[in-house]
Amino acid sequence: MKVLLVGGSGQLGSEIRLRWTSDEVVAPAHDEFEFDDAVALERALDRFAPELLVNCAAFHNVDLCETQTDRAFAVNALAVDRAAAQCEARGVAFLTISTDYVFDGNAVLPYTEEDCPRPISAYGASKLAGEQLVLRRDMKAFVVRTCGVYGIHASKSKGTFIDRIIAQARAGETPRVVNDVIASPTYAGHLAMALRAIVASDAYGLYHACNAGAVSWYDFACAAVELAGVTQPVEAISAAQWKAPARRPAFSALASARLRALGCTLPSWREGIAAYLRDK
Ligand SMILES: NC(=O)c1ccc[n+]([C@@H]2O[C@H](COP(=O)([O-])OP(=O)(O)OC[C@H]3O[C@@H](n4cnc5c(N)ncnc54)[C@H](OP(=O)(O)O)[C@@H]3O)[C@@H](O)[C@H]2O)c1
Repeated sequence: MKVLLVGGSGQLGSEIRLRWTSDEVVAPAHDEFEFDDAVALERALDRFAPELLVNCAAFHNVDLCETQTDRAFAVNALAVDRAAAQCEARGVAFLTISTDYVFDGNAVLPYTEEDCPRPISAYGASKLAGEQLVLRRDMKAFVVRTCGVYGIHASKSKGTFIDRIIAQARAGETPRVVNDVIASPTYAGHLAMALRAIVASDAYGLYHACNAGAVSWYDFACAAVELAGVTQPVEAISAAQWKAPARRPAFSALASARLRALGCTLPSWREGIAAYLRDK
């Protein structure tokens, strides 16, 4: 399959480039291509004539989205809508990635695709708008929500949450991690393979795709330290102690129910950490 990939240098995009080996994946770099530039996208679609456009680009700094709301909606909603329209007009399939942050976090069981979203941040609202602008169209479109993505191609300067926790533990420091926020952290390598299965299904619509299970960031950090072979305690703190400008859902684990119905299950969150440490 001929695939045009936007955001191909990021955590998820890099894994798609690596793992979709039977496809021809073309991924223009960010500095030569702005996703919110409709003319540039039109040119890229003309030039590569893909069968599928995959969008992994987003403005996903959750705190900055609170103050740069225009930019959040421009990239995460309006640009996604324009890209979907361009694909629809050409008969090209479209896959775009969304987030667990479309939910308010009041659930006690992992959210399925049937649950009603209610974002509590500008980021979540902008991503939900992007989802709805795609799903209202009668076209070949996949919208895939995921959660807590980490991958070996994270920005070198920041690294991943796992890298930071392990580095602190190795340095003899005690990492402090929130124990009252529950999610389904997901390894980008596993997610990339799940996306390929979704695309192969031709069953369009909304999906959740996450490493299986629900875990607090504290338990996740403890497992990462343990799997890295470091013996250093992790300190549990509350979300209230970890002050952040944007509100985040306290519970945003996702059940990949539609994916399971396709016969595809992602490994557990713990296996996600192990695979990440192996692949690094
Ligand atoms: N990371 C998470 O925890 C998480 C959780 C749930 C959902 N998601 C969603 O998953 C998707 C992929 O996330 P990720 O973690 O792989 O992100 P990432 O590592 O930050 O990668 C994003 C990629 O998109 C590029 N990009 C950003 N804005 C662009 C624009 N306007 N035009 C063209 N390219 C642009 C980036 O290039 P530069 O690096 O050069 O800017 C980078 O290559 C996003 O839709 C995100 O909202 C992420």
